[in-house]
Amino acid sequence: MTPDLFDAGPSPADRAAELRAQLHHHAYRYYTLDEPEIPDAEYDRLFRELQEIEAAHPELQTPDSPTQRVGGAVLKALAPVRHMVPMLSIRTETDTEASGAVAFDARVRRELGLGDSDPPVDYLAELKFDGLAMSLRYEQGVLVRAATRGDGETGEEVTHNVRTIGQIPLRIDGAVPAVLEVRGEVYMRRDDFEALNERQRARIAAGAKGEKTFVNPRNAAAGAVRQLDSGITRERPLSFFAYSWGEVLGDENPPATQFDWLMRLKAWGFPVAEQTTLCQGADALVAFHQRIGAARDQLPYDIDGVVYKVNSLALQKQLGFVTREPRWAVAHKYPAQEQLTTVLAIDVQVGRTGKLTPVAKLAPVFVGGVTVTNATLHNELEARRKDVRVGDTVVVRRAGDVIPEVVSVLPEKRLGDPPPFTMPSQCPVCGSAAVREEGEADHRCTGGLFCGAQRKQAILHFAQRRAVEIEGLGDKLVEQLVDSGVVKTLPDLYRLGLTALLALDRMADKSAQNVLAALEKSKQTTLARFLFGLGIRHVGEATAKDLARHFGQLDAVMDASVEQLLEVNDVGPVVAQSIRTFFEQPHNREVVEQLRACGVHWDESEPEARAPKPLAGKTFVLTGTFPTLSRDQAKDLLEAAGAKVAGSVSKKTDYVVAGTEAGSKLEKAQALGVAVIDEAAMLALITHPLDG
Ligand code: IVH
Repeated sequence: MTPDLFDAGPSPADRAAELRAQLHHHAYRYYTLDEPEIPDAEYDRLFRELQEIEAAHPELQTPDSPTQRVGGAVLKALAPVRHMVPMLSIRTETDTEASGAVAFDARVRRELGLGDSDPPVDYLAELKFDGLAMSLRYEQGVLVRAATRGDGETGEEVTHNVRTIGQIPLRIDGAVPAVLEVRGEVYMRRDDFEALNERQRARIAAGAKGEKTFVNPRNAAAGAVRQLDSGITRERPLSFFAYSWGEVLGDENPPATQFDWLMRLKAWGFPVAEQTTLCQGADALVAFHQRIGAARDQLPYDIDGVVYKVNSLALQKQLGFVTREPRWAVAHKYPAQEQLTTVLAIDVQVGRTGKLTPVAKLAPVFVGGVTVTNATLHNELEARRKDVRVGDTVVVRRAGDVIPEVVSVLPEKRLGDPPPFTMPSQCPVCGSAAVREEGEADHRCTGGLFCGAQRKQAILHFAQRRAVEIEGLGDKLVEQLVDSGVVKTLPDLYRLGLTALLALDRMADKSAQNVLAALEKSKQTTLARFLFGLGIRHVGEATAKDLARHFGQLDAVMDASVEQLLEVNDVGPVVAQSIRTFFEQPHNREVVEQLRACGVHWDESEPEARAPKPLAGKTFVLTGTFPTLSRDQAKDLLEAAGAKVAGSVSKKTDYVVAGTEAGSKLEKAQALGVAVIDEAAMLALITHPLDG
């Protein structure tokens, strides 16, 4: 080949062949494997380019061109079903501006021979659901077969799976045609999709083989519908909207309009979208397109556009079809919810709970109606499974108010050999160790108290009633203190002075005094409350109490080995490791030392091994109001004596301690024959336990 001085690009014939090959490949990925590599918008672009070449050079058209047929292959394992009435597609108006509706109306009027003085045409405006088309066959009102669209002529039998869809009636009562095919869209709601992917990510983290997350709700729905095992379909919640019909025999009362058909389907129990609107003329269609476009994000499911249909069935008949598309309907699109862009960098963000999330920084791209520059990669496992690397061309999805995400990579577009993504071993915000626990998907920063990203959360946790209890230190105040930079770590709280507090917005003298008094009061606490307040992952109130009882002293807890921690009641390997990691962070130890230096203190006691545990193995339930003790105090005393305090009465309960106004728990205890005692008897048990 001679070098080209004037590079004219490939010839139309070469380009058409190339496009055909690409479209074949992508149609197979999409229809047969349910695993597309490129967004629909990209597929449409390639498809249109081929259509244009073929229109300009009809001699290049081939019988096997993807433009000559719609749809994909039939999987061998599902039985083929021939549609008595073919399942058509509709012409798509890709113009996302209002003019799409205007152009459609003008075409319809021209075809019908209507002039300017003729009245507007009645249309039915519907949503264009982004799922997969389904034909449901009812004989004598009973669902006998469900089939996918397939290539429009022949679909696949998926009755076993469709029966799992609660929204689809298994039988219709009333005057129903002897044969009735209801057509509509099977789809997955966005919340169901997010929950499904969350479950999948957990399975992958737990080491399940062969599991994957799904690219988008439509894909998840398509995959679910085409399962051979309907048990799998059932775990993937699907929904349905009816919008059309196929073969109908023995209809005694055929409707005259699209609208009447939908109302009838609705009356028979099929879901019909409430947004469906009768529109007179182009202006009403334009208004519908705009109204739905503005509400699109709030819908619980994906739509990729709206559909306009001539309402009168008589006019529909008159208009007829061009090849396989009706002249009486058009789909009018919205901006695509998936697009291609490139990854500029992969950052790691730290959330309020310490969760580390890899985030792809993207070349700005317009997706689902907004410009997106960041997309989540969820966690390290996902980022590595999708193998996203800096410089890659990726598919980005943004739908509804869900955070944009990178759904897949186009490996063939990768340049060079950029390194795979790895999670940093240290928190990018505070430098503490970042760890992923076994069986968990997420990495977490272990610098809880010290990490800037977790500051507010850590302070609120420490200040709560069941921890060290700083009265009046709530959401709003913590927000102000942290945002103004006055409080960076927990000990800063105890260094607050009146001037600093009064400088805050809307802080009166009296409230500032109250906050200082509450801080002073909180300094006298217990080891258990203090340990709980530190916010060590997996250390809840009960574990904190167990630790305090077992070790008696903070330094003993801080220096305990995993083995020593495992000796504590109810502490397993995950909890032990978490405590160990927490106290291995120099920052966390520093915060603890500073809190002590600020005057936070408690009575340290002898380790539990030497303290008596008179009520070990006994279960108590507390109910009503006691004469001298608060509920919490009673609970603390019982637990210190080794008892368990449960929330409800069962046969395993040893004692119910009842105060005044004891309610249903007392009744239940009496019914089960559980011993009922009062506060005094409880105190006596703690000091002079009975045998047995
Ligand atoms: S009517 C003859 N109405 O879009 C008209 N289709 O290309 C038959 N779709 O495969 C289709 N929402 O999966 C119709 N309200 C709606 C629709 C809708 C989504 C899908 C359907 C079909 C494709 C048409």
